[in-house]
Amino acid sequence: MNHFLDIHKTPADDLRAMLKQAHKTKAARAGLPKGTLDAERPLDGHMVALIFEKPSTRTRVSFDMGVRQMGGQSMVLSGNDMQLGHGESIADTARVLSRYVDMIMIRTFDESTLLEMAEYADVPVINGLTDRTHPCQIMADLLTFEEKKGSIKGKKVVWMGDGNNVCASFLHAAGQFGFDMTFSGPETLRPEAEFIKYARDMGSKVEIEPDATRAVEGADLIVADTWMSMHDATSARAARHNQLRPYQVNAQLMKAAGEQALFMHCLPAHREEEVTSEVMDGPQSVVFDEAENRLHAQKAVMKWCLNG
Ligand code: CP
Ligand code: NVA
Repeated sequence: MNHFLDIHKTPADDLRAMLKQAHKTKAARAGLPKGTLDAERPLDGHMVALIFEKPSTRTRVSFDMGVRQMGGQSMVLSGNDMQLGHGESIADTARVLSRYVDMIMIRTFDESTLLEMAEYADVPVINGLTDRTHPCQIMADLLTFEEKKGSIKGKKVVWMGDGNNVCASFLHAAGQFGFDMTFSGPETLRPEAEFIKYARDMGSKVEIEPDATRAVEGADLIVADTWMSMHDATSARAARHNQLRPYQVNAQLMKAAGEQALFMHCLPAHREEEVTSEVMDGPQSVVFDEAENRLHAQKAVMKWCLNG
């Protein structure tokens, strides 16, 4: 069995094999009603626990559907309703859940919760987002890029705004898949140095360009995300919005980038804040393909987790 904890902790060949598998199973399902089971059902007889300590639409529904399409069953658990949210240790929760279910997906705050769950669980654990990273999102984004433009190797990806958890997983992917990243955002909201160092050590070019227009020149992909992540203190809202306003992705910025640039956003989006509706609903945006691809990418992740 394998845990899927982060992009940089997963062998690059395995990541590539998962994407290949995702392209294949997606193509095989084309045109079928969503609830149709896959021809191959690697989760037959398997039970998957989906734990959420934060809100979710895409992660919750795409994992649940993915489990079902692969022949398994899932239970969606709210961290707050579990003893986990009332003082039971993560280690004991992991040991207990391992006696009932075949796989655990968890969305949580502190990365240490995910790591402790993985350490004490006898079944695969999947990172469904922490304050620091969001690897499942990036698998979907890579799948989407490949569908639209082919290999991402050597391409230029520009992250606009807050250097958050999704940005961190993009930097991990830059290292593993050999693409370059430019970060454009306020100095105080840059990604942690550790993530930048990882990508650079792996041979990727990582640039910091505070000027949004200069940053997007020649971009193959522009990515934005909310200016307020779920773990950010609501009291910081006004200050962050002031800092981040110059990094809104709008029609003018997309024009500066050129027609070759795709636009991605993991969603949920705050229209007219980090991105305008004109861009979200425009011809360069692939945001709903990304959302769909969460399903296909995570099915490949779950299959890999069980196969070892
Ligand atoms: N992109 C993403 O993870 O969405 P949810 O918060 O709706 O799961
Ligand atoms: N950066 C966002 C991603 C949501 C899917 C957050 O952590 O809230």
